[in-house]
Amino acid sequence: MALLEIKDVGKKFGTLRALDGINVSVGENSFHGLIGPNGSGKSTLLKAIAGDHYADEGSIIFNGLDITQRSPEFRAKNGLNLKFQITSIFPELSCYDNILLSIQSMQSVWSLITSRGKDSLNDKIMDTLEQFKLADRAETLAGELSHGLQQWLEIAMSVIRKPKLLLLDEPTGGMSPEERRATGELLLPIKNHTTLVIVEHDLEWIKDICDNLTVLDQGKVLDDGSVEQIEKSEKVKEVYTTRV
Ligand SMILES: Nc1ncnc2c1ncn2[C@@H]1O[C@H](COP(=O)(O)OP(=O)(O)OP(=O)(O)O)[C@@H](O)[C@H]1O
Ligand SMILES: [Mg+2]
Repeated sequence: MALLEIKDVGKKFGTLRALDGINVSVGENSFHGLIGPNGSGKSTLLKAIAGDHYADEGSIIFNGLDITQRSPEFRAKNGLNLKFQITSIFPELSCYDNILLSIQSMQSVWSLITSRGKDSLNDKIMDTLEQFKLADRAETLAGELSHGLQQWLEIAMSVIRKPKLLLLDEPTGGMSPEERRATGELLLPIKNHTTLVIVEHDLEWIKDICDNLTVLDQGKVLDDGSVEQIEKSEKVKEVYTTRV
């Protein structure tokens, strides 16, 4: 069974059909890319999956649960995490405390009271900072990091929660080519425990890290399949050569 099933999903803004009969299936522990021209509905679809807004039509099944109209908190509690196009770290806190807050926000009050507190989490936090090349910046204020490192910190804040499904909207936006390449390498190890749905404009980059791609165009699925299939797709080639 797929981890995420999007069935006939529609979303309107006034008279605009931002999503129109979308069907996408995402297998467990796969990396699934969402691509398409500007305004094709990529962010709208991610937000409908995360519960940032609700689909008007169709259903979204996550891990066997119909989450179409469930709250973002319900989705997060069940292992779904979203990183938006815009970075949302706490700039006045250190990198370490940003990660600490992220992990504590998913624990129950009871487990926080009964846990040994900050120290018991220390190893886990330092391992995650290490994994995202931020260990030597543990005490640096997040607001003082470069844009690229802020993006990594935010991804690290999601990854430490070990979500079943992580949604990333243009995580490499504004990064240098070197940071972009490194981001791909940083994401690969999470495949052991996390399924990824990722939006990206850089086709070469997304082809390297994803197993499957869905191509959106004007709120509809233009094509989907393995990276190899999409690379050969005439429909996709046409949209990308004429409109992107
Ligand atoms: N909150 C909103 N209110 C009204 N229209 C919206 C809203 N959000 C998105 N839209 C419209 O819905 C369509 C799809 O937008 P969306 O942001 O999903 O595109 P996208 O594929 O993510 O584009 P980009 O590549 O530029 O990020 C666009 O026409 C956009 O203007
Ligand atoms: Mg977008």
